[in-house]
Amino acid sequence: MIKRRHKVVLVGDGAVGSSFAYSLLQTTQEVDELVIVDLNKEKARGDAMDLQDITPLESPTIIRAGEYADASDADIAVITAGVPRKPGETRLDLVNKNVKILKTIVKPIVDSGFHGIFVVSSNPVDILTTLTQKLSGFPKERVIGTGTSLDSARLNVLLAAKLDVPVSEIDAHIMGEHGDTSFAAFDEATVNDEPLKTATELTADDYAALEEAVKKRGGEIISRKGATFYGVAKCLAYIVKAILENRNVTLPISAPLDGEYGIKDLYLGVPAVINTSGIVKVLEHDLSTEESKKMEYSAAKMKEVLDGVEL
Ligand code: LAC
Repeated sequence: MIKRRHKVVLVGDGAVGSSFAYSLLQTTQEVDELVIVDLNKEKARGDAMDLQDITPLESPTIIRAGEYADASDADIAVITAGVPRKPGETRLDLVNKNVKILKTIVKPIVDSGFHGIFVVSSNPVDILTTLTQKLSGFPKERVIGTGTSLDSARLNVLLAAKLDVPVSEIDAHIMGEHGDTSFAAFDEATVNDEPLKTATELTADDYAALEEAVKKRGGEIISRKGATFYGVAKCLAYIVKAILENRNVTLPISAPLDGEYGIKDLYLGVPAVINTSGIVKVLEHDLSTEESKKMEYSAAKMKEVLDGVEL
């Protein structure tokens, strides 16, 4: 039997997009063709050539610059395009500019006949993922946002350092908005499979400081180097891997809520299971009262922003 070919279209060849492409080729062998679409065609061509040079050492992928029409037979369309945050800006400050850009992307992709899965990382990601689903009319499980995957990675790193254990022993999620209203689900977190709250002597102040440090980390990176890209690029690559390899893994992503956590009609950061069909299950943790309130607050903030968006 001939193996089915897997094609990924990347829209947005900025720092996040090109880092994602580089990471993807080293994260999975399942990509047979990667097409890079960017307004700056020469940059896309240059990156395609540069990335092609690593494939003899990784997988025999075809990499080329292309157009939205190339999405017609793609499995996945990854959207990283958009204006990134400047120092001092919040992700929500980007909403109007990036909704405008998103509209110019989703329609031609859908018009191409694309029937794969959208994966979105442009900010504010929960808003833009919700709008990608609305604009495309796609089934909700076939639109995924990077959500709090990056924030969760950051929390795991900071907890591991604080507890002086390998990061692989930590399992902790950030939930809610990928942004200022996010929160750490410490009550459900584990270290070495033991509940974090009973296995360690961390104090309420430690938890508050860790949560705050995660929230500030993106802004801190931006103030030092002007942008963040490696972290989110790897999260994107890992999500694409989970889809192409049908891995059924649980990842904290921006997933469509339909009553889970008492929230509807919104994509928000929650743990969800991903495979070849997209999002197959949203996991509903039994949140503490305080955590539930934080989740509701995050959802209310997202709804407020969405209500102000003109499509
Ligand atoms: C960050 C950007 C991707 O948090 O929002 O690094």
